[in-house]
Amino acid sequence: MHITFCCSDTRPEPWLDGLRAALPEAQVSLWQPGAPQADHAVVWAPPQQFIDEQPRLKALFNTGAGVDALLKLRLPEDLAIVRLDDAGMAVQMAEYVCHALIRHFREFDSYEADMAAGQWSFRKPRRRADFPVGILGLGVLGQRVARAVAQFEFPVRGWSRTPKAVEGVEGFAGPSQLNDFLAGTRMLVCLLPLTDDTRNILNHCTLARLLPGAYLVNVARGAHLVEEDLLALLESGHMAGATLDVFRTEPLPAGHPFRGHPQLTLTPHTSARTLREESIAQIARKLRAFERGEPIAGVVDRPRGY
Ligand SMILES: NC(=O)c1ccc[n+]([C@@H]2O[C@H](COP(=O)([O-])OP(=O)(O)OC[C@H]3O[C@@H](n4cnc5c(N)ncnc54)[C@H](OP(=O)(O)O)[C@@H]3O)[C@@H](O)[C@H]2O)c1
Repeated sequence: MHITFCCSDTRPEPWLDGLRAALPEAQVSLWQPGAPQADHAVVWAPPQQFIDEQPRLKALFNTGAGVDALLKLRLPEDLAIVRLDDAGMAVQMAEYVCHALIRHFREFDSYEADMAAGQWSFRKPRRRADFPVGILGLGVLGQRVARAVAQFEFPVRGWSRTPKAVEGVEGFAGPSQLNDFLAGTRMLVCLLPLTDDTRNILNHCTLARLLPGAYLVNVARGAHLVEEDLLALLESGHMAGATLDVFRTEPLPAGHPFRGHPQLTLTPHTSARTLREESIAQIARKLRAFERGEPIAGVVDRPRGY
């Protein structure tokens, strides 16, 4: 079995060493133009040339949860695409989102500013019931986040494509229930995959339906958010602020109106990083099961887009 490695955003050597240790029965090599044909590939954002030159691949193992970049390529019909599920990302996402929500709810920005100005001042405690949290996407990451948020006793609601029963989470499903979901949400978390159905879903129309003084946490993909609509709703006072980890253009360009905006907290697409050891162990497990013809989790449904 020959595995080729083609990841655009990482140093390949530790991955190659890790894959060789986890799959000693396989030959593992770094892809370069003209490389020999492989059976499987471990990839992140490979170029079209890679796909075109490797027509005998049986499966692509993506080193992330989102496959939107991969599905933009021209891919052979029968090529299986397998994404990471969790692999250490879910707990990172839970801590990032809880941090962002609690920071907003407990007004830590204001307390820090007061302290920096030499003031010792108190704000009126807020009621959790006034800050219901809505999670768009109740998949591997969304469910883990929902459970973590519920631990802090916020009311939690979730929206998915198909109905999901998650303990302690009020469930909404499909386009027909989106407005009801939004109308009862004050702190909105986006954990949807980027597909034709979800692109630009965070727009003036949807964000305006949130409870007044709404707060957004986008940890999914930049193209979910219509950036100028968020700016307009911050300006109007309907939105109180946002924590954004992902952007339409990354890195966020110098001079972008988000930079330095007092109501925005920005991070550089770091909310849930791919952890190499956990990812290699999961890929090795799935790859062996795939070779044995067994069903595996995380196989992408290409028409659905995730
Ligand atoms: N910022 C980062 O560092 C980072 C890191 C990892 C992942 N991500 C992003 O997080 C996303 C989610 O990851 P995941 O592993 O949780 O994915 P997942 O397990 O596939 O879950 C996706 C969820 O979104 C729902 N969904 C999809 N399309 C929908 C639609 N049109 N309407 C309503 N709900 C819809 C799905 O509904 P069903 O349950 O009905 O299928 C499911 O609940 C990834 O795709 C990636 O873009 C970001």
